[in-house]
Amino acid sequence: MLRHRLLVIVCATLVACRTPDTSVATAETSVKPGINKAFLDPALDVAKYEGTFEGESREIFAQRARIAGLVGLREGSAVADVGAGTGLFTKMFATKVGPTGKVYGVDIAPKFVEHLRDLSRQRSLPQLEAVLCTERSTELPAASVDVVFVCDTYHHFEYPSATLASIHSALRPGGELAIVDFHREPGVSRPWILEHVRAGREVVQQEVEAAGFELVRVEATPFLRENYLMRFRKQ
Ligand SMILES: C[S@@+](CC[C@H](N)C(=O)[O-])C[C@H]1O[C@@H](n2cnc3c(N)ncnc32)[C@H](O)[C@@H]1O
Repeated sequence: MLRHRLLVIVCATLVACRTPDTSVATAETSVKPGINKAFLDPALDVAKYEGTFEGESREIFAQRARIAGLVGLREGSAVADVGAGTGLFTKMFATKVGPTGKVYGVDIAPKFVEHLRDLSRQRSLPQLEAVLCTERSTELPAASVDVVFVCDTYHHFEYPSATLASIHSALRPGGELAIVDFHREPGVSRPWILEHVRAGREVVQQEVEAAGFELVRVEATPFLRENYLMRFRKQ
């Protein structure tokens, strides 16, 4: 009887040691429920969002060339634009990395992903691959990219720990994660930013570092008033 009990304990211990601990990722609850409701609408109007995301009044759009220039891409690089939306940066990256490179345009919104697929076909950019992901995972293959770019999307991650874990796994050794997002400063930021964006730059930095990244640099971006750009390296 005692030998049987011991055997059960040994087997249970062995199974526990071999099974990766996914309890943290699966137990994570949404940090901002409902923030992506409009994007997940099956009838989402892509043209309307093209007007919003790709209009001169948006500083990210007006400064897109400078922002893209700070992301270390060259011909042949592999990059994932996570939360690609209408493809503002996905298109630019596809030109930058050229036909020998790879650009994954990743989004949870089926309509945006359909649009990215159309862009790839219509603009003859076979290096651009659209990926429909989930709210917890980028669905990218392991060690598939040199750079992950996340613009105006980190604050949309409902499950940041799980999503960051999948970004970490998608990056090659030494790969970089670049995050552009809103400064969130009570008393300074506009009220809609304070309401919409849950975490400021320092909190985002802490979360990303806790996910196995080291900060490379907070880029100097005097051309941006409301946004910052941080670069991290996979550890
Ligand atoms: C404000 S838009 C930014 C789009 C684009 N990056 C830009 O700057 O023009 C945020 C995008 O993130 C997407 N998104 C939200 N949560 C996501 C997640 N967990 N993984 C990937 N994409 C996500 C939304 O569907 C939406 O397209």
